[in-house]
Amino acid sequence: MKNILLIGAGSDIAIEFAENNHNEFNIYGVSRTEKLLKLKDIFSVKDYSPTECNEAVNWYIKKSLSLDILIIANGFGKSGKIGAIPLEKIESMTNTNLLVPYYFLHHTASIFQKQQFGHVIVLGSVAGIKYAPNFAMYSATKFALRALVEAYRNEIQEFSVKTTNIQPGFIDTKFWDEFGPNDNKFKFKKNASVNVTEVADTIKYVIDSTNDTNHVINEITCRSVYQER
Ligand SMILES: NC(=O)c1ccc[n+]([C@@H]2O[C@H](COP(=O)([O-])OP(=O)(O)OC[C@H]3O[C@@H](n4cnc5c(N)ncnc54)[C@H](OP(=O)(O)O)[C@@H]3O)[C@@H](O)[C@H]2O)c1
Repeated sequence: MKNILLIGAGSDIAIEFAENNHNEFNIYGVSRTEKLLKLKDIFSVKDYSPTECNEAVNWYIKKSLSLDILIIANGFGKSGKIGAIPLEKIESMTNTNLLVPYYFLHHTASIFQKQQFGHVIVLGSVAGIKYAPNFAMYSATKFALRALVEAYRNEIQEFSVKTTNIQPGFIDTKFWDEFGPNDNKFKFKKNASVNVTEVADTIKYVIDSTNDTNHVINEITCRSVYQER
């Protein structure tokens, strides 16, 4: 059975993925949420500081397991025009969406280099391909995440490690809970979002379509046929 280290295991997408696939994979999670069923074990963090991210990876290393798949789901958005969002929020969003994924790439790079196999999957966004109106900085973090993963692909390829950036459109998750009707309009437009199972299934599809030789899906976009942008 393959081992998965799932970062941001409290994400609705991650929870759904673990729910549907815990019989097929050994899934170990890192999260601020302490009670997550369907995981083999969980490392609880407070705020994903660089030290905590390092501790989380060391916790996994102590298990003496291969790191077959690393999935990074962390990310949140804050809407508003430039100048209107408190700077602390901008800093926290940049940290969560970009630096936390970087910390986990940083701390796992030597594992992948040593074992000479593995698959890194991150959750980007369609907002990382085209900007989302009213979400300038969220888009900027997802554009940067895309660049980071593509650069990492090039650095880690000589160790036969594969990378994938999954870029969903609107998904009906708690991500949208804090937004008002101006920014989660899609909720009121019939069929403009996809459900969380469809995105969890996309992660599984990416894993299943990766063979033991050279094939991998590096980027994949999934969204409702009716999503406007
Ligand atoms: N929902 C959408 O429409 C949509 C569309 C495109 C892309 N995405 C991306 O998909 C991923 C999962 O999102 P989701 O829809 O499943 O939303 P979610 O349920 O709200 O999950 C949010 C994730 O981000 C982490 N997180 C949130 N706030 C954080 C903070 N302040 N500091 C550190 N970590 C924080 C959570 O970690 P814990 O486990 O520690 O709570 C969790 O993994 C995100 O990267 C998001 O950007 C979502």
